[in-house]
Amino acid sequence: MFTIITGAQFGDEGKGKIVDLIAKDYDIVARFQGGNNAGHTVKVGDDIYKLHLIPSGILLNARVLIGPGVALNPEILAEEIMMFEKHGIKVDTRKLGIDAKTSIIMPYHIEMDKLREASREQKIGTTKRGIGYAYIDKVSRDEIRMAELIDNKRFLKRLQELAPQKEREIAAMGGDPKIVMDPILIERYIELGNQFTTYITDVSMEINEALDEGKHVMAEAAQGTHLDIIHGTQKFVTSSSTIAGSACVNLGVGPTRVDNVIAIVKAYITRVGEGPLPTELIGELGEKIQKAGHEFGTTTGRSRRCGWFDLPLMKKSIALNGYTEISLTKLDVLTGIDPIRICVCYNYKGENVDYPLELTDDLLECKPVYEDLPGWENDLTVIKKFNELPENARRYVKRLEELMKVSINYISVGPDRAQTFRK
Ligand code: GDP
Ligand code: IMO
Ligand code: MG
Repeated sequence: MFTIITGAQFGDEGKGKIVDLIAKDYDIVARFQGGNNAGHTVKVGDDIYKLHLIPSGILLNARVLIGPGVALNPEILAEEIMMFEKHGIKVDTRKLGIDAKTSIIMPYHIEMDKLREASREQKIGTTKRGIGYAYIDKVSRDEIRMAELIDNKRFLKRLQELAPQKEREIAAMGGDPKIVMDPILIERYIELGNQFTTYITDVSMEINEALDEGKHVMAEAAQGTHLDIIHGTQKFVTSSSTIAGSACVNLGVGPTRVDNVIAIVKAYITRVGEGPLPTELIGELGEKIQKAGHEFGTTTGRSRRCGWFDLPLMKKSIALNGYTEISLTKLDVLTGIDPIRICVCYNYKGENVDYPLELTDDLLECKPVYEDLPGWENDLTVIKKFNELPENARRYVKRLEELMKVSINYISVGPDRAQTFRK
């Protein structure tokens, strides 16, 4: 069985939590894109794990893979492995595999991301983790791959070959070109390369062979659908493709093998960084949701902008991903809010539109049209069954399901693995 899980909004929908929850039924969980711009939080009892690179399936028995479409910062991976080992979870070569073709994030990519963002009049609000510049190098065929990092001689040869161009680019951006051949940084990367030598694998072949043997494989996305490099709200997007089809491309698995595509959907919407958010709540109510939902970035600590559930964006997500089921998260956060609003369409220049407009500038002019539903006062975090939810919470979930026309499988009412039930 091959299942793809993606975020249906602007990221931070709770992918980490749901992947962790369902990973018990999977033999392999593979990350297919993005890098340590992602932050996935998994809470099990008193333990909280913040993952940036390693797939959230790691806590159970699944083997976890990092696919060739990921932009990998080896320092962050080393830190994450160490963090798990401190928690008594051994991340050996049986547990983790990294594709030989994975692009490496170099210190100069991070520097370029920072320099470019600082020089932009209209900021994107990137995480400044060098993601965009690592992908630029992949596309321009100037990347350093995992296979090179683990081979000291090849790594140095490749870096020397690339250095003059990178130095010119950094100098032209107003930065210090010395970062490219900084001996301390190079030595550290060599050390990291040596640490990861035995983890190298061919992710595509591993997954295809596992599927041939009848095993269960899950592809885990980072970010969210509307941050997709092609279909998102350009230019306020990330630099990789975040939608379900991208899992096939990036992991090297044919589309005929896909069985399920699961959407992770927050019961409202959030966004970190710049870009349109038509239902954004500016003021007291937005802050109330932000506080109740702890809407502060796992990676950068920035506060997340909050808004009402946005159906036009969701309808586009359903089209882009072909979702077969939905996991709805953070329903508990809406307790005490009355009425609860759902944006059912937009008004654009006097006309109602059902889908987000293609161009970001036009989307910025869309005014949400709302349907109001009554709220509830009860604490949902203790609820264990759908039927135990207050009537108005059930009504909200059922209305969302009716509008999205895709069935909701799981409902999450708190950060802990245990705070989840089937609808
Ligand atoms: P991801 O990037 O999609 O994995 O999401 P993040 O982990 O960045 O952000 C989701 C945050 O909400 C995390 O802090 C989770 O622990 C938390 N969370 C997940 N599901 C729920 C839920 O149902 N209720 C509440 N209150 N918090 C949740
Ligand atoms: P997870 O996987 C939310 C946003 C950044 C910025 C834009 C581009 O935790 O859902 P980048 O550094 O990728 O070039 O920044 O994308 N962004 C995210 N927002 N969740 C994420 O990941 C994100 N990863 C990137 O805030 O607006
Ligand atoms: Mg996150």
